[in-house]
Amino acid sequence: SGTSAINEKGHLCIGGCDTVTLSEKFGTPLFVYDVALIRKMARGFKEAFEQLGMKHKVAYASKAFTCLAIYQLIEQEGLSCDVVSAGELHTALKAGMAPEKIAFHGNNKTFFELEMAVNEKVGTIIVDNFTEIALLSEILSQTQTTQNVLLRLAPGIDAHTHEFIMTGQEDSKFGFDVKSGQAERALKLVLDNPHFCLKGLHCHIGSQIFNTEGFHAATEKMIDLMVEWEHHYQFTAEVLNLGGGFGVHYTEEDEPLEAAEYVRQIAQIVKKSCQEHLYPLPEVWIEPGRSIVAEAGTTLYSVGAVKEIPSIRKYVSVDGGMGDNIRTALYDAKYQAKVANRMRDRQELEEVAITGKYCESGDMLIHSIQLPKLHYGDLIALQTTGAYGYSMSSNYNRNPRPAVVFVEEGAAQLVIQRETLEDLIHLDLPLK
Ligand code: LLP
Repeated sequence: SGTSAINEKGHLCIGGCDTVTLSEKFGTPLFVYDVALIRKMARGFKEAFEQLGMKHKVAYASKAFTCLAIYQLIEQEGLSCDVVSAGELHTALKAGMAPEKIAFHGNNKTFFELEMAVNEKVGTIIVDNFTEIALLSEILSQTQTTQNVLLRLAPGIDAHTHEFIMTGQEDSKFGFDVKSGQAERALKLVLDNPHFCLKGLHCHIGSQIFNTEGFHAATEKMIDLMVEWEHHYQFTAEVLNLGGGFGVHYTEEDEPLEAAEYVRQIAQIVKKSCQEHLYPLPEVWIEPGRSIVAEAGTTLYSVGAVKEIPSIRKYVSVDGGMGDNIRTALYDAKYQAKVANRMRDRQELEEVAITGKYCESGDMLIHSIQLPKLHYGDLIALQTTGAYGYSMSSNYNRNPRPAVVFVEEGAAQLVIQRETLEDLIHLDLPLK
């Protein structure tokens, strides 16, 4: 997918740029983002709503990948965004994202973060818990302002990759539990406080979801609740936010729907359910993170040490690893990889493990993959690393974090510089 191709030298090209040239110019490890694909995904969600003539908001869940340039790109494509910390909020504002287009999420927003959100006039705060209601209420009465909010609910639906299970989700640190009546208590508190302007409800059922069954169940449950609350409290939700979680293609086993298809199916469920209950059709908001950026991202690594443990395993070590991509270690995530400098190599394949340079056995990128025989200096392209790679990166072992480039129509632009050794000691203070 996207704009990747193979050039006459047998090199992998992304966005019209030769990855070998990119690695020479910017060094490795290097995150390369195919801008055209990000635009395509962003448009896919938005245009589907537009075609349905449905009031909507598509907010990029920026936790998937945060930096100034991605907010600018998202803004260009007419999306809004979600943030989950003062740091993400600061970055979004510095990137020029209009505050009213920002929604603030989190299960433990600090007093400082809530104050910042109110002072910066963020569009929506998604209220998660009773502590937050108290803190926010204090801030709003001090500043004598009103704030648009949504209530985040835990509707008791847990969406998994292929099937969804209806248990477990009640045991969640996110949102107000519906079953125990907490959600209703929160509703009353917020409705009784003139500083809160309650726009609607939110739920998020999971991540890397491949079908819409979970969304179906969640939507029906949310709309049932909306109907009940309209009856009892004369509260009509203008907004129904169904969160993010749309799946992407990491390996052949993953079969996500097209962005537009997720939207069509969800829209249909919302419409049908509202019609049945004679409930006014709310604006539908979604918050895709992974699906906007994951497949657009590729990490380039240089091969270093190659070690064969006879009849057990061959370890191919690259110059990055769990510091720039902890997903394999943390979630047993699966990835595909290519030998970017020898794409047309028809040599016999051999099974190898692609591991990083971190001092930890769990520092693995791919446990097992068939690739042509690898040598020192080969360039490995790990695919679909655009979401939760850089954004979950660390300086473990005091490795500097990689650089990030955006490529589009043959041009490459550095959007995050590679950390230097001096950057690594920037905050350290020597003993007196
Ligand atoms: N909205 C809310 C309230 C969320 O909690 C999340 C993700 C999203 C939207 C975006 O979900 P997405 O469309 O990206 O699936 N680090 C994990 C993923 C954590 C997702 C957390 N919440 C990973 O690398 O797979």
